[in-house]
Parts: sequence; structure tokens; C-alpha cells
Amino acid sequence: MTMGARVVVIGRFSIVFLALTAPLLLTGCGPSEDSGAPRPKASAGARGADTAVVASAEEAPQRGHDPEYGQMLYGNSCVACHGTRGQGMPHQGVNLRTSKFVSTRTREQLVEFLKKGRAPTDSTSTVKRLMPPRGGNANLDDAGLGDVVAFLRQLQDEAKQEGETEEPTTPDAREAVAQ
Ligand code: HEC
Repeated sequence: MTMGARVVVIGRFSIVFLALTAPLLLTGCGPSEDSGAPRPKASAGARGADTAVVASAEEAPQRGHDPEYGQMLYGNSCVACHGTRGQGMPHQGVNLRTSKFVSTRTREQLVEFLKKGRAPTDSTSTVKRLMPPRGGNANLDDAGLGDVVAFLRQLQDEAKQEGETEEPTTPDAREAVAQ
């Protein structure tokens, strides 16, 4: 990053330099106008490099924050129980779109939860069914779980926009929603 910043500064400097010298070159004698010609090209090159540095920083995939990648991972490990749009599946996983558990926890807390899952015997279990650690996929790493959480946030935003009501909190009511 330091290197990138330095390139930007040099680039800007050369542009400023040209802006100051161009009028002098123009008001000067003819030949110096020609000799000054290659300079804008060099400047354009420097600016091109700047743009490339900035663009690559923006386009770099941010592991753990990518909802699109998260959707793909969700499709592999969560969809069978929670449904394509997190609506929950009968006798399987619960609704994640309106889950208060999801909306009231931070990304870090949710990743921690997903790593462990929730046993039916757990005192916090709502429907007394197993939520397997990492959705049962040991290859789903922590960054991947972060991506999945980013996708869950999208599902929750979608549910909000569509006016879906918040998940009822009693196990019985949840069961009804999941069916
Ligand atoms: C084998 C089915 C199954 C799979 C696969 C599965 N889940 Fe679950 N999940 C459940 C069940 C069942 C519950 C509810 C557990 C309980 O409290 O009774 C649950 C609960 C949850 C909760 C807590 C919701 C709440 O409101 O308490 C979250 C979040 C969650 N799952 C996310 C995921 C994600 C993300 C994946 C994929 C990585 C996944 N689950 C894979 C079955 C599954």
C-alpha cells in the first residue's frame, strides 16, 4: 500500500509539473514544444499505473465478506436444511431470513456459532434438531463461514424489504414457520 501511495503522489506531481511547464513551453520557441511532446505520454503511463493499483485493490476478493461467494458456499452446505433463500425447510433447518438470532449477532459471533453448530440437547436449541458444525462440511473454513454470513445478511435485508415478520421466538412457533 505504501508503494501504491507513493506512485500516486509521483503521478500527481508529474501532472502538476506538466501543467505548470506546458504554458511556458507553448509561449517559448517552437522546437521546445516538440521536445515536450513525449511527456504527456509518460504522464498518461504513470496515471495508468495509478489506476491499475487502485482498481486491483478494489477488485481484490475480500475473503470472509463476499456475499456472492457465500451464496455459493451456502448452496453447498446449508441449502438442504435452510432452503435456497433461507426460508427454512420442513422438519429440517429453521428460517434464517427473519431469525433474530442472526440479526442480533455480529459477524464474528455468527462465525463462532457456525463453527460449533447447535446440538438438540443444547439449552438454546429451539426445535430440538441438530444444527451440524460448519453445516456438516469440515472443509468450510472460517473465512468461508464469514462469506456465508455476508449472504445471510443479504437474505435478512431482502426479508425486511419484503415485509416479512421477525421469527417467533418460541420453539413451537418456529416449528410452524419451518413447515
Ligand atoms: C442437517 C441440517 C442443517 C444443515 C446442513 C445446516 N443447518 Fe443450520 N440449523 C439446522 C437446525 C435444525 C437448526 C435449529 C437448531 C435448533 O435450535 O433446534 C439450525 C439453526 C441454524 C442457525 C440458528 C438460527 C436461529 O434462529 O437460532 C443458523 C444461523 C444456521 N442454522 C445457519 C446455518 C448455515 C449457515 C449452514 C451452512 C453452513 C447451516 N445452518 C447448515 C439445521 C441445519
